[in-house]
Amino acid sequence: MGIVDEIRQAAETLGDRKDKLTEKVSDLVGVLADRNADESFAAMRRFDPIVSLPGGVTIVALNEDVKEVLSDPARFTADLYGPKMEAVTGPFILGVDDVPLYHHDHAAMDRAVTRADLPLLASRIYETAHELVAARRDEGQIDVVSQLADPAIDSAISAYFGTPGPDTATQLRWARNIFQELFINVGNLPTVRERALADAALWREHLDGLIEARKRRLEAGEDLPDDVLTRLLRYQDEGEPNLHDVAIRHNILGMITGWIPTISNALARIVDELLEREDEFERAQEAARAGDRELVAAYCFEASRFNPQNFALLRYVAQDTVIAQGTDRETRIKAGSTVFAATLSAMHDERAIDSPDEFRVDRPWSDYMLFGYGMHTCYGQQIVRAQLPAMAQALFEGPRLRRARGGAGRLRFEGPFPSGLTVRFDD
Ligand code: HEM
Repeated sequence: MGIVDEIRQAAETLGDRKDKLTEKVSDLVGVLADRNADESFAAMRRFDPIVSLPGGVTIVALNEDVKEVLSDPARFTADLYGPKMEAVTGPFILGVDDVPLYHHDHAAMDRAVTRADLPLLASRIYETAHELVAARRDEGQIDVVSQLADPAIDSAISAYFGTPGPDTATQLRWARNIFQELFINVGNLPTVRERALADAALWREHLDGLIEARKRRLEAGEDLPDDVLTRLLRYQDEGEPNLHDVAIRHNILGMITGWIPTISNALARIVDELLEREDEFERAQEAARAGDRELVAAYCFEASRFNPQNFALLRYVAQDTVIAQGTDRETRIKAGSTVFAATLSAMHDERAIDSPDEFRVDRPWSDYMLFGYGMHTCYGQQIVRAQLPAMAQALFEGPRLRRARGGAGRLRFEGPFPSGLTVRFDD
């Protein structure tokens, strides 16, 4: 039985238990994304490009339809995230659509997190990653997640925002637990929710302390680091857009939550994908050794296209609507439905992407939907494009990398997040 049939069968069994159905669909589409994604999504695009289930869940697989969903926040809203964010971080940009708060907070953060910082963000993470890799050379191997990406990202973020966690492990755990509740807990499991709320309460208190302490130093006229926190506090005395203390807190919390788990996840999957593609990995390493960061980036994002961390983005349908109107796949969607916009499938849609099954490093950036599409396109996209290849370069520029022997050399998970992938230096 194909996955689409399994999904339909689950819908029949679960009837109108929407939470359960959304969770089941998420699991099954996840299975589809992990195993035989090419074939399964190709079949879906060909025979069943819009799967609409009676319990109020719809999956769209064509590039065109995914774009239609993600580019129209009035019909396909981010309301699924909104209430969760409200509870955990306070209102945050991904959880609200085209309202004044979105534009205000976005503009205020744009003043403090600027493009001018990108070279520094890249060079700092490169240096840290380089040191972390060098420290493991004698052991002959390094774990890409726990010994490289996690500590490098935590250190880069802590310095950039000026709001380090109590320690690395705690900040990583807080960010992952909250991320899981906001974006992965589609079935609304109470244990996941409660854990995230408890962590968020601790993190908020911790940030309040840091904000308060920094304010006192600012008032005392001390010399302060030019980090995001100092900038946001300084803007409070200037005109709009700026943020009051609580808004500073929930924006920083939201940003770090979006930052830590994603880049680490991406690097682990990229390395895992390249380890399966010997020739491409060899060329990616050659590019790194030649100092060609742009080419390293092209290998990274192309590897991500085959092994992304999001197979779909979810949207809520507030009022009855129609997808793909005027086509033979036109589908009515009822108010209250959840739509899975399958970005993984969209990036492999032969109607929109040139030779989608080929691994190519000369693709236009518009072929990629790793960072979403439309209004909610990832705020951190340019940061990732700077930091991820820098970290990859530090890893790739040394000797040939191979999987460590045994289980350590396989991508391992803790819950939904990669927790380990050990590679050995083949000197
Ligand atoms: C490889 C790393 C990353 C990936 C794959 C990624 C992916 C995404 C995707 C797919 C979305 C759209 C979600 C949707 O439409 O439902 C998104 C939104 C967002 N991301 Fe990222 N992200 C990454 C890193 C980051 C980083 C480093 C930050 C923080 C600087 C960040 C902050 C955000 C924010 C704030 C939004 C919401 C934007 C808005 O609503 O306008 N992300 N990200």
